[in-house]
Amino acid sequence: MVCSENMIDNKKTKKLFFNADFRGEEEIRVFAPATVANMICGFDILGFALDEPGDEVIMRRVENSGVRISEITGDDGKLPRDASRNTVSACVQHMLNHLGLEFVGVEIVLHKHMPIGSGLGSSAASTVAGLFAVNELLGRPLSRQELLPFALKGEELACGHGHADNVAPALLGGITLIRSYEPLDVISLPVPPNLYCAVVFPHVEVKTREARMMVQNNISLQQAVVQWGNIAGLVSALYTNDFDLLSRSMQDILVEPFRAVLIPEFYGLRQLALNMGALCFGISGSGPSIFAFAHSRERAAEISTQLQEHLEKTGVGSNGYVSGINNVGPRIHGVI
Ligand code: HSE
Repeated sequence: MVCSENMIDNKKTKKLFFNADFRGEEEIRVFAPATVANMICGFDILGFALDEPGDEVIMRRVENSGVRISEITGDDGKLPRDASRNTVSACVQHMLNHLGLEFVGVEIVLHKHMPIGSGLGSSAASTVAGLFAVNELLGRPLSRQELLPFALKGEELACGHGHADNVAPALLGGITLIRSYEPLDVISLPVPPNLYCAVVFPHVEVKTREARMMVQNNISLQQAVVQWGNIAGLVSALYTNDFDLLSRSMQDILVEPFRAVLIPEFYGLRQLALNMGALCFGISGSGPSIFAFAHSRERAAEISTQLQEHLEKTGVGSNGYVSGINNVGPRIHGVI
């Protein structure tokens, strides 16, 4: 679906806010999931949502206008508490301004349940939870697709570039394709049954902003042909549940060779995962997390354990997650 901020009629949404659609709740608790961007061959255009981990936002309406951060947990003090610099509050304020609802006041509590700078779409999960929460408190004036342009602002603030391959799956759930950025055109792709994901976050620091600078700006036509073939192959595999085609297609010649150096033991870990029957192995987003697909949850769990043990032997600690693909996106955990 094609969507931009300018397509949102704020007179209509303002009217909705003042009409019966207003839900009248005072407080809401929303969970939004971690995501794996790029899906190996689709730099900046493909991503999928995980069941876990994810972040939680508790948002309450207050009398004084404006957006405030009242508490953040789980971030080791890394995230800004200043509402104008925090991606969640800045995006929520931007959305309120755009809708002509500057007089609305909300307070935000953010519980980070996943590591920051892990390549698992940490800022996207928080921002999406915040935008989803405020939209619900307002009586849902915008569709999920219409929330997307506001979520992109958060990515711009977090890493200097508004890429949508984390925020789109976090908001819409499932596997998403960014067909175009201008205009923003996002397509939900089918999620094959029995596709499970092992994700391991090695405890090394990779900043998305810096990892993006490692990617070459110019590629040859020959390289583009290889990449187009793989992306088209992957999309076709998702429609036909063809796991062999999926495995052949989830390969990247453009970005991975440059970013692999950021991840300890990347090629050893890949060999290990593939030897254990992983359908694919690659970097999650800009890293350092890595992921593998498997046919079953049990196999994904075994792969995750082995990858963690291998990293441990080289003196690198890690977190491991095993997850299905999350078809739902954000979830309401409670309304008061
Ligand atoms: N597509 C983005 C990148 C995702 O690879 O830089 C960042 O999580």
